[in-house]
Amino acid sequence: MKNLTTQDPQISQAIQKEQSRQLEGLELIPSENYVSTAVLKAMGSILTNKYSEGFVGHRYYAGNTHIDEIESLAIDRAKSLFQVPFVNVQPYSGSPANFAVLNAVLEPGDSFSGLNLTDGGHLTHGWKISATAKYFRSYPYHVKKDGYINFAELELIAQKHKPKLIWCGATAYSRIIDFAKFSTIADKVGALLVADISHIAGLIVGGVHPSPTPYAHIITTTTHKTLRGPRGAMIMVTDKGLSKDPKLGQKINQSVFPGLQGGPHNHTTAAIAVALREASQKSFQTYAQQIIKNAKALEIAFRQHNIKMVSDGTDNHLLVLDLSEHNALGAQLEKALEIAHITTNKNTIPYDPSSPYYPSGLRLGTPAITTRGFKTKDMVQVASWITQVINHIKKDQLPEEKSQRAEYMKKLEKKQPLTVKLGIDPTSPDIHLGHTVTLNKLRQFQDLGHNAVLIIGDYTAMIGDPSGRMSERPQISREIIMENVKSYEQQAFKILDKSKLKIVYNGEWFSKLNFEDVIKLISKFTIAQMFEHDYFDKRFKEGV
Ligand SMILES: Cc1ncc(COP(=O)(O)O)c(C=O)c1O
Repeated sequence: MKNLTTQDPQISQAIQKEQSRQLEGLELIPSENYVSTAVLKAMGSILTNKYSEGFVGHRYYAGNTHIDEIESLAIDRAKSLFQVPFVNVQPYSGSPANFAVLNAVLEPGDSFSGLNLTDGGHLTHGWKISATAKYFRSYPYHVKKDGYINFAELELIAQKHKPKLIWCGATAYSRIIDFAKFSTIADKVGALLVADISHIAGLIVGGVHPSPTPYAHIITTTTHKTLRGPRGAMIMVTDKGLSKDPKLGQKINQSVFPGLQGGPHNHTTAAIAVALREASQKSFQTYAQQIIKNAKALEIAFRQHNIKMVSDGTDNHLLVLDLSEHNALGAQLEKALEIAHITTNKNTIPYDPSSPYYPSGLRLGTPAITTRGFKTKDMVQVASWITQVINHIKKDQLPEEKSQRAEYMKKLEKKQPLTVKLGIDPTSPDIHLGHTVTLNKLRQFQDLGHNAVLIIGDYTAMIGDPSGRMSERPQISREIIMENVKSYEQQAFKILDKSKLKIVYNGEWFSKLNFEDVIKLISKFTIAQMFEHDYFDKRFKEGV
């Protein structure tokens, strides 16, 4: 970092701050991990300087002897780990890899089927705004109410629409993927089965999740999740794939280059090779086993805390908490946990009653913290911390109004306290029971660190109902009001924290209004708004 510190202090400092964030917090995003120093070294190497369009032995640029060696090593290691005859290690990342597959084997307008995004699928599996659904026709399948894949629905889709390709694999699915079941359905309609194992590649090579190799024709994976490599991706073709179409490997290569990409990122290729070597070692199997044990420990702990989970638990590295009983808690919880240095991500749950931006779920996983050495007993502690935050914020309702929601989330993000105001008119010496509900709410905001303001309606109480027809709103003298205020405050402090409360009197601004101000103020209100207030409406109906 020395050169960077002097050459570009801004970037250097930002990297250092991010490094501290990664070290000091808990990384629970299931698609993230910590790579080894060896992977980092390859990634940050001089290989980034080299252009090498083409493939091993067939490049469009000179000087690629060493690049060929590196790319061959990456390919051979992947072939051996995943037991496949063909690998392309050049896709820039998972999404381009998936698009490259579609581009290789489908014509524009051809149909395919993948797990719906809000049911746990990835954008590139045919979500409506993804390019995959723009150029091809997507027929998504879903999970059942119990959170497990709805194979009956997929079978119907396959029979009815005869998709040319079926995706299996997911981004937020916590159960074993039954590749055999997918292959039975795909084979019946002659579809290509593509397994996107981005999330579970490390679990597969670690021997804790079944492999798709005997069942799928094509396999795609990112290299940066459980596989613990750099950000990149691979496309593999299985023996089954080559026997269905011997040109499948060639088609994939052509789709990646020159179809969609130019020069491969050689520094990434080298880092992928390093990660694959690490993944072939015995210690990686122990790591993969621990990922699962840790996720299971989280599941058990959350169950003990009565926190619901999609599909009621996990078989793999991730869990999706189902917080639908509370108002759109996923988004709030993600922010609140971030403040507590626990990084997770909000997620939709199947049949989510809330919107994708304010979803009811929270996705969390164990690959990164397992790399850091966390064991099952630590997971019990992690679940307890998360539950504490859930219990703390579930009392706090996300505003119903969309515009207020955005502002609320922005404040939460900036860790800025909200200012919450409650107005009471001191028309009698005693607070009534109804006031305690709102006072308790105000106290909850205080406990959460927000600013509470109590507005005493000294001026409005003095005016009361000038017609004298409403017994609840008599005109009261200033002396009585101030006595009432004193008694109000004493009672309110039994609920509110006096030391954190700001008290203001509406006489401070109302007493200064002149007639013109009053007219201007009235012009802002409609009769309909007045009638929203219960007793004005009542008065009107009763002719009072
Ligand atoms: C299942 C799956 N496929 C593909 C991708 C896309 O990977 P990338 O973000 O590298 O484009 C992801 C990323 O989360 C994923 O979960």
